[in-house]
Amino acid sequence: MTAAPRATRRRLAPVLLVAAGCFALGLGAGAVSTVALAGSEAAVAGTASPAATDAVPRVTASAADDGGSTGDAAPAIEVSTADIDSPGSVTVVVNKVRPLEPEQFAPEDLVTVTDVPGGATMREEAAAAMTALHSAAAAEDAGFTISTAYRSHSAQAHLYATYAAEQGTAAADRFSARAGYSEHQTGLAADIRADGCDLEPCFADTAAGRYVAAHAWEHGFLVRYPPDSEDVTGYIYEPWHLRYVGIELAAAMRDAGVDTMEEYFGLDPAPDYR
Ligand code: DAL
Ligand code: ZN
Repeated sequence: MTAAPRATRRRLAPVLLVAAGCFALGLGAGAVSTVALAGSEAAVAGTASPAATDAVPRVTASAADDGGSTGDAAPAIEVSTADIDSPGSVTVVVNKVRPLEPEQFAPEDLVTVTDVPGGATMREEAAAAMTALHSAAAAEDAGFTISTAYRSHSAQAHLYATYAAEQGTAAADRFSARAGYSEHQTGLAADIRADGCDLEPCFADTAAGRYVAAHAWEHGFLVRYPPDSEDVTGYIYEPWHLRYVGIELAAAMRDAGVDTMEEYFGLDPAPDYR
């Protein structure tokens, strides 16, 4: 099964996107099957998630309009100069057609994320941003814990192999990256959980899920695999998977109304491995 294409999805040319209020892209209302993951075990649920079926066109205010942390002069990021290739770049784009190079890449500045339960590690800049995001969320009774953040090449290989053995590669490929193709290996991604929702669609309906969907960008994070985007990102809706890209890019994408890195940078969609 494949996700219904988003009728209003558009490809942006690689030009400077100036931070300014604009209409967000509408999210198609087509239902997608989702994969429910419980703990370390995954199971294809085969039902549309509430978040996916409830998706409707929306309007996103600009960072300058709503008092976001970027203030009146929300920085834009120049698409033509952003480093989307280097594995150590916070703006690196990793997907099924853009493996990490080298495939065995491991970041050198991993630290434990402080003040967020879970004991996870991330790159230093991302870890500090995660601590700040958690603090802001907790202040709104939307706290969360981290399931996993950084995963080494070997850890990702083991995880993917486990899922593939349980469910087959076609199913596993919809929610688990192969080693060398995972954002977790960059040290910039984290899976968060709350209220018993751990790697499950129900996370979107928790206070934490709602909070990060609305505010993660203020701390430089994206909900990297949004609803109805499997045809672009290669993955089902993962409301729990946060990717640190830095405040400039997160704010610029929000202001442009673009929710995937592939579209923002004008890259090929990545539904499958080549
Ligand atoms: N769940 C994401 C796609 C990963 O395994 O990196
Ligand atoms: Zn993840």
